Amino acid sequence: MSTWTERTLACARAARAGLGLAADASPVALVLGSGLGAFADSLEGARGMSFAELPGFPTATVQGHKGRLVSGRLGGIDVLALQGRLHGYEGHDAATVAFPARVFGVLGARALIVTNAAGGCNPGFAAGDLMRITDHLNLTGKNPLIGHNEDALGPRFPDLSHAYDPRLSEAMLKAAQQAGVKLQAGVYAQMNGPSYETPAEVRMAHKLGADAVGMSTVPEVIVAAHQGLPVCGISCITNLAAGISPVALTHEEVMEVAKAVEGRFLGLLRALIPLAHAAVPARKTLA
Ligand code: HPA
Repeated sequence: MSTWTERTLACARAARAGLGLAADASPVALVLGSGLGAFADSLEGARGMSFAELPGFPTATVQGHKGRLVSGRLGGIDVLALQGRLHGYEGHDAATVAFPARVFGVLGARALIVTNAAGGCNPGFAAGDLMRITDHLNLTGKNPLIGHNEDALGPRFPDLSHAYDPRLSEAMLKAAQQAGVKLQAGVYAQMNGPSYETPAEVRMAHKLGADAVGMSTVPEVIVAAHQGLPVCGISCITNLAAGISPVALTHEEVMEVAKAVEGRFLGLLRALIPLAHAAVPARKTLA
């Protein structure tokens, strides 16, 4: 069986060729969460490849996730966006879920912006808030780096002290100010899903330090840290989490609120991308 390094390089080369990405490009990469995928379509000269065209990618299944890797430009900056991510609850292991972030890493992405839809467990939050992710709690019991370490990708024991890069966090604060977008800040806890949490689980997560709960993001952030790819993250608080919200949670509500927040979210991303690009240096590509 091929190694993750081989699979990642093969996919990155296919993406570079299929998307016409220059060898010296140093794109800002994005993972677009539930209901947040429209941003990719607004890129200048957008070109996309479906997951089926990318070797090593399984196909995404969730409603609201398109399953494409899109390349384009925003204000002269190269951008690569994953429109629809992979989730553990679809049956993928954590390393497979994180595979697209590995591909971003070897393509020489200079920064990774991860986004998601999440339930707020901080009682000070409201549905429709955007939250800068300051740190995470991995409550899944899984880690994408379990198994033989591939030294070409990163070290056996990567440091997560600054998993959410302080330079990019600073850039996000500036971007929010520029875009006139109110930004909450907090810790994101990942659960496995696909069931939403029980009220007791939400109370537990909050007691452990979580401000928001969701079903994604942590695997991608861990492999990015492994590869030395700086990350920042935004949660769209689509609902108050179970037990805080008096009403039952539905995926339809999550998608509706994500849609309603789209304008603010896109404004924040448009301001953030150039600032993130300027905040961190180019990285070398392996593919
Ligand atoms: N819990 C988990 N994931 C979510 C939620 C939630 O309340 N809202 C959106 N994604």
